[in-house]
Amino acid sequence: MRVLVTGGAGFIGSHFAKRLQRAGEEVVVLDKLTYSGNPANLEGTGIELVVGDICDPQAVERAAKGCEAIVNFAAETHVDRSILGATDFGRTEFVGTQTLLELVRKIDVRYVQVSTDEVYGDLEAGGSSRENDPLAPSSPYSVAKAAADLHIPAYVRTFGVQACITRGSNTYGPNQYPEKLIPLFSTNALDGQPLPLYGDGKQIRDWLYVEDHCAGVEAVLRRGRAGEIYNIGGGHEVENIEIAERIIELTGADPKLLQHVDDRPGHDRRYSLSSEKAKEELGWGPVVSFAGGIEQTVAWYQANRAWWESIKSGEHYRAYYERQYAERLAGAE
Ligand code: NAD
Ligand code: DAU
Repeated sequence: MRVLVTGGAGFIGSHFAKRLQRAGEEVVVLDKLTYSGNPANLEGTGIELVVGDICDPQAVERAAKGCEAIVNFAAETHVDRSILGATDFGRTEFVGTQTLLELVRKIDVRYVQVSTDEVYGDLEAGGSSRENDPLAPSSPYSVAKAAADLHIPAYVRTFGVQACITRGSNTYGPNQYPEKLIPLFSTNALDGQPLPLYGDGKQIRDWLYVEDHCAGVEAVLRRGRAGEIYNIGGGHEVENIEIAERIIELTGADPKLLQHVDDRPGHDRRYSLSSEKAKEELGWGPVVSFAGGIEQTVAWYQANRAWWESIKSGEHYRAYYERQYAERLAGAE
C-alpha cells in the first residue's frame, strides 16, 4: 500500500511514517515544515518528503498521486500557542482537513483523521470520555480540532467516503518538540533551567507512549469501519506535578528548579479516555507502561542533545519561550 502521511515530519507523524515503512508499506510525507516540522525526524529513512500545505489543493493532489490511503496528522498542535493567537489553528485544522476530504471524495482513498481527547473537554467531575460523548472543547486549539472532526461524518454521509477519526490522549516519547510538558521539562532539567508548572500542578492527563498511539492509528487505518470514531487512550492518568518530580529524579536535577507559575487560562483539569471500542473492535491496547515510557523518553533526550539544542537555540524558539514564560517565571513561587 502507498500511504500519504500529512504532518509526517512532526512528532507523532514521523513515528507513524517509520512504523508503516517497517511494516513494508510505501510512505510519502506531505508537510509544510512549520516550526515543529523537522526533516531530521525522517533522516536516514529514505521516506519521500514533499514540502507543502494541506490547505493547498494542488499540493495535496500531487502528493497523493498513486496513494491508497491518507492519514492526516498535520495540525497546529500547542494549546499555549493557540491562546497567544489562533488564526493558523483555524486555517490548518478546518480548511486543511476540508481540502484533504475534497480530494478523498474525488480519488476514493481511505482516510484517517488524527484527532484528540481534548475535543471532549474537561472531565474534572470524573468518568472517561466515550466516542459518542458531546464535543465540549475549551481552548482555541481544541475548538479547531473539533471543527475539523465535524467534516468527517458529513463527507461519509454525503459522499460515502471511507473515513475514520482517531482521538488520542496526551502523547510523549522521542522527537517531541520541546514546548510540550515532558520534552520541555526534560530538556530544561538537563540544562539546569526552571520547570514552569502551571497553577497547582494537579491537572491530570491520560499519558500514551508514541508507539502505542501509532499502533492505534495503524489499526484504524487497516481495520476501522468507515464513519467511526476510535478513542486511543494511554490508560495512565497522572498529575503534572508527579511527572515534574519524576523528571527531576531521572535527570538528577535540583528539586528547586520546579516552580509554580501563573496558570494557563481556561486550563482543563482532567482528561480521560475509554478505549474499550478500539480494544473490542480492533484488538488495540497500549502496551508501554508510564514508568517505562518516561524513563525511555528522558534517556532519549539525554542521549540526543544535538536534536533539541538546535531547536532551543533558534530564534523562533527563544522568542516563543520569552513570550510564554518570562513574566510567569519572574512572578514564580
Ligand atoms: P507536531 O506539532 O509535532 O506535528 C505537526 C506537523 O504538522 C508538523 O510537522 C508541521 O510542520 C505539520 N503541519 C502544520 N501545519 C501544516 C499544514 N498546513 N500543512 C502541512 N503540514 C502542516 O504535532 P504532533 O504532536 O505530532 O501531533 C500530530 C497530530 O496528532 C495532530 O493532529 C495533533 O492534534 C494530534 N494529537 C497529538 C497529541 C499529542 O499529545 N501530541 C495527542 C492527540 C492527538
Ligand atoms: O490531550 C491531547 C493533547 O495533548 C494534544 O491534542 C495536544 O496536541 C498536545 O499538545 C497535548 O495538549 P496539552 O495541553 O495537554 O499538553 P501540554 O504538554 O502543553 O501540557 C500538558 C499539561 O502540562 C497541561 O496540564 C499543562 C501543563 N504544563 C504544560 C507546559 C507546556 C505546565 O504545567 N507547564 C508547561 O510549561
